[in-house]
Amino acid sequence: SPSDGNNLRSPICCIMGHVDTGKTKLLDCIRGTNVQGGEAGGITQQIGATYFPAENIRERTKELKADATLKVPGLLVIDTPGHESFNNLRSRGSGLCDIAILVVDIMHGLEPQTIESLNLLKMRNTEFIIALNKVDRLYGWKTCRNAPIRKAMMKQSKDVKNEFNMKVTQIVTQFKEQGLNTELYYKNKEMGETFSIVPTSAISGEGIPDMLLLLVQWTQRTMIEKLTYSEEVQCTVLEVKVIEGHGTTIDVVLVNGVLHEGDQIVVSGMQGPIVTTIRALLTPHPMKELRVKGSYIHHKEIKAAMGIKITAQGLEHAIAGASLYVVKPDDDLEYIKKAALEDVESVLSRVDRSGEGVCVQASTLGSLEALLEFLKTPEVNIPVNAINIGPVHKKDVIKAGVMLEKKREYSTILAFDVKVTPEARELADKLGVKIFSADIIYHLFDQFKAYMDNIKE
Ligand code: GTP
Ligand code: MG
Ligand code: NA
Repeated sequence: SPSDGNNLRSPICCIMGHVDTGKTKLLDCIRGTNVQGGEAGGITQQIGATYFPAENIRERTKELKADATLKVPGLLVIDTPGHESFNNLRSRGSGLCDIAILVVDIMHGLEPQTIESLNLLKMRNTEFIIALNKVDRLYGWKTCRNAPIRKAMMKQSKDVKNEFNMKVTQIVTQFKEQGLNTELYYKNKEMGETFSIVPTSAISGEGIPDMLLLLVQWTQRTMIEKLTYSEEVQCTVLEVKVIEGHGTTIDVVLVNGVLHEGDQIVVSGMQGPIVTTIRALLTPHPMKELRVKGSYIHHKEIKAAMGIKITAQGLEHAIAGASLYVVKPDDDLEYIKKAALEDVESVLSRVDRSGEGVCVQASTLGSLEALLEFLKTPEVNIPVNAINIGPVHKKDVIKAGVMLEKKREYSTILAFDVKVTPEARELADKLGVKIFSADIIYHLFDQFKAYMDNIKE
């Protein structure tokens, strides 16, 4: 294939935005699937991954006459939920990607999770493009199935064009209010400083060729170094799932390197590093969603970048958001176990040296990291004394109780996206330890701040 000489891996692209803006539907439109139709309540509740081979992208963009410029082997797209409860998954997705698509509903403009997603992207300095979706909902829109957007726009009436221009102007203003310059991509002369907007329809496919081409061209133009394939395995655990017939499996994103069936691997676990052997390396078919149960392809080996389901023994306590390591014959297993342990500890050790602060607990390593990052920002500035991953148990309450003597307001647990056991709740009430739980990072701050303000009065 034409991509062989370049030795680039596929860019990883995360699709983010407010609930129901059409993220999953956009991917369905490219895949020719109906994943969205099978979702409970039409809401995405898991992180997903789909691989789009270069030949499919070439086919889909050929009307734009740009096939000579495709150098990457494909595109790995991570789908995330837009519902406000899934901040942790948006955080995990955005932490993994090379580039993102921020989806905005042209009829609604910027919404709360658009802004939340934007903040995640800014925090990590991630490049992104904006898909201004649902253009087919403009009154009087003439369908031009799968057409490049400028071709589709030429077919529209004056009224449609006017409404479109008005909406674009409003949305550009809203982005400006968030401190961002944006512009329709075909008018954008300063990509990199001004973010590009691609109008799309996930239902009739207008603008999809433009969106795909823009993603591929932009990553190829600005990220060659980052996208140059490297042998060193770089792999992150997305989800830990029990699958009938396979036991506990992990869904991973392989960012670099190769995985083989039979590889000895190390992943971080709640009870220390897990050393196990890859029993099966599974992927969905190309253009199919990893998170949807379907037929899997068994592989002897897989090269990055790819979304992969791994079956192996002992994965029950694996930590989502953590790294996966491969042990090669000459490698020192103890050294790698230490690295896996350090991953967890580097996060776990971000506690206040003064020994004064709140306790923080989260569902995954990635979400814990995001939460700690957030608590550290100057506007928030809440010191943290102890952290943990997983449900809040009695022992966590006892730990938080230590603060009762030192600084009473810090005898608090901020629990992000985790359960609090009834026993823990009962003990906390008895001791006077406060537990605030939320599934949105910002709500924890609001609760804690209200509590502090209350104390001060
Ligand atoms: P979450 O994952 O739950 O955040 O939602 P999402 O952003 O993935 O949106 P989803 O794909 O579930 O689409 C939400 C609704 O909008 C569905 O009813 C879609 O059929 C509809 N929809 C999505 N894209 C378009 C579009 O381009 N045009 C029109 N008319 N409807 C769309
Ligand atoms: Mg969705
Ligand atoms: Na939805």
